[in-house]
Amino acid sequence: MALLRVVDRDAVEHEVDAKTGLKVMETLRELDYGVAAICGGMCSCATCHVYVDPEWQGKLPAAMSDERELVSELTHHQENSRLSCQIEFTPDLAGLRVTIAPDE
Ligand code: FES
Repeated sequence: MALLRVVDRDAVEHEVDAKTGLKVMETLRELDYGVAAICGGMCSCATCHVYVDPEWQGKLPAAMSDERELVSELTHHQENSRLSCQIEFTPDLAGLRVTIAPDE
């Protein structure tokens, strides 16, 4: 377990004890203020969209082309947009801070 910091859609920050080895989405979908993750991590729904804090962006593995493509089509796309189902929460990411993106 390691610390995951989650800013919800009301801009309230929560400190969550997240299981390492899971996708970030798998932790977020269990939270009342988390993500819907409708496709279950297949990189096809974008309902797991989050913004990664700039200080953490460079520490994450780069997005694959299918993730980049899907994210770029979103209304609320930002430069630090990621799909949380494509981010494995490794021990190196302890303290990661993400913001849940608005619903599309
Ligand atoms: S859960 Fe559907 S794209 Fe991530």
